[in-house]
Amino acid sequence: MQISNDRRSHFERIGGEEKIRALVQRFYHLMDELPETHGIRKMHQADLKGAEDKLYMFLCGWLGGPQLFVEKYGHPRLRQRHITFPIGDAERDQWMLCMNQAVQDVVEDEGLRKELLGAFGKVADFMRNKSE
Ligand code: HEM
Repeated sequence: MQISNDRRSHFERIGGEEKIRALVQRFYHLMDELPETHGIRKMHQADLKGAEDKLYMFLCGWLGGPQLFVEKYGHPRLRQRHITFPIGDAERDQWMLCMNQAVQDVVEDEGLRKELLGAFGKVADFMRNKSE
């Protein structure tokens, strides 16, 4: 695996808040449109704006920028916040399908795309709470 020697945070490398906003908008647009991700779309509210804002705030901090989510909602406790949604391999794969495509569409740098998708993959794996 190629290790990047760019010392800047992922937040800076992706292009800051504007790019993260574009990424989450694309992500939820895909979730809304793709027939393959209907399973996880149904878990969300009809209006995706609230989920989009929360993911945006979370990602700003998680990628090394301002801790918007923590300031507003406290510690992320992400796994705990997902415990009411049954998440197994299929749901994880649907989430990653949207994120994979959103990252391809929004992030220009190929090395950064790989790093981000590796990191998203680990969190998405960790979110599983259902025995198959
Ligand atoms: C693995 C599959 C996943 C599924 C099926 C899933 C599903 C959901 C659902 C249904 C919600 C509630 C949205 C609403 O209010 O309508 C939610 C919230 C959220 N998700 Fe996920 N999620 C997954 C993975 C992830 C990952 C990997 C991240 C972070 C990288 C993430 C970050 C968040 C955040 C920050 C919230 C808002 C939490 C809150 O304050 O309630 N999710 N997710």
